[in-house]
Amino acid sequence: LVAGIDSSTQSCKVVIRDAETGKLVRQGRAAHPDGTEVHPDAWWAALQEAIEQAGGLDDVAAASVAGQQHGMVVLDENGEVVRPALLWNDTRSAGAAADLIQELGGGEKWADAVGIVPVASFTLTKLRWLARNEPANAARVAAVCLPHDWLTWKLSGSTDINTIKTDRSDASGTLYWSAKTNQYRPDLLELGFGRLIKTPEVLGPTGIAGHLPNGAPLGPGAGDNAAALFGTGAGPGDVVVSIGTSGTVFVSAEVSPDDPSGTVAGFADVTGRFLPIVVTLNAARVLDAATKLLGVDHDELSRLALTAPPGADGLVLIPYLEGERTPNLPDATGSLHGLTLKTSDPAHLARAAVEGMLCALAAGLDALVERGAEANRIVLVGGGARSEAVRRIAPELFGLPVLVPPPGEYVADGAARQAAWIALGGDEPPAWSAEPPEAYEAVAVPQIREQYQKVANLLR
Ligand code: XUL
Repeated sequence: LVAGIDSSTQSCKVVIRDAETGKLVRQGRAAHPDGTEVHPDAWWAALQEAIEQAGGLDDVAAASVAGQQHGMVVLDENGEVVRPALLWNDTRSAGAAADLIQELGGGEKWADAVGIVPVASFTLTKLRWLARNEPANAARVAAVCLPHDWLTWKLSGSTDINTIKTDRSDASGTLYWSAKTNQYRPDLLELGFGRLIKTPEVLGPTGIAGHLPNGAPLGPGAGDNAAALFGTGAGPGDVVVSIGTSGTVFVSAEVSPDDPSGTVAGFADVTGRFLPIVVTLNAARVLDAATKLLGVDHDELSRLALTAPPGADGLVLIPYLEGERTPNLPDATGSLHGLTLKTSDPAHLARAAVEGMLCALAAGLDALVERGAEANRIVLVGGGARSEAVRRIAPELFGLPVLVPPPGEYVADGAARQAAWIALGGDEPPAWSAEPPEAYEAVAVPQIREQYQKVANLLR
């Protein structure tokens, strides 16, 4: 047996699977507190609860932790957490991101150095914010790591900051490690924070980050998007679109996209390749907001959306409910455009919400393709993919066939598959067979995206 853990923004999930077949044996789950600033101890408590629910880890042969990316976990020299972590969706460091771009001489310089361009999500911008706004806390910082690194380290029982490990996929979202050279850029860390601090060793795909009390190895883990790619078993040309707290569009690639505009980030995957990705801050919660506005549940929202015509007769919802990262508009708010007597009903609003959220993701697909990604099919995952309206409307916006694998914990599964690779050994990861996905044929309706783009341009 192997264990895979997903410490996500909203909850912690543990799956225990058979290493050879991938069959699910046990699982557990516990909630995380809300907010964009969370003390790592809350993740640790949730992990303990989820592990207990999953029947413990005593009988597993290996375990790996995947998790939300970028969050700044800062530790003092004794390994104590200095302040609550600032998460990927905390936008207070937007000014710091803009400063860092300027200080290095533009987005091109960053894309060239580390394959990504500063936005408020990435770790270094949070370190800069800390240095500027909380000098007393900043002075105590001896080491920085990411949420999944910290949990792996805690599971290993170590309290020594010199033993923290990370993996390529999560390191590639920090701005101070380059997936292209597989090396840290201490100069950039110093540029952002003002001085050097300890960073975790970056392990390869099957590196060992520590051991559980029963002696089982802990894998390097991964950022959640890379773990999801690995967990769905998506192949070349399969673009994963994940509709969770964040909306993400990503694919596996041989080379870094090096996008100086920062729209496509050049992360690493868990196998030694790259993972070009576009991330939006507004995804599943756009649907949540629409259910609240309309006073209905998700099933009813979906039913309503499917009764309105494609394009919702010109009603457009721009979904920047929490500011936005792609496009980079941290202070933006959402808008509804095109209200007429005809469109002022729940069905049109429901349809506009689903279309608006998907249009933002479809723009992400375009950006990936422009940067050379191969895109033949969409693999739709995440909580938002449970909506029938999302599944049916997605092919109209992506213009490609859409596959929806059965609902599952793909991030935790990716971590479990990494653990199985370590437990079983070998050059290739185990090929677990998956249940067949639901398939939807491509039916592009370009006018929906055209009207969305027109309104989005009006608001910029
Ligand atoms: C990726 C990102 C989000 C988080 C969500 O850049 O910020 O997808 O990883 O957990």
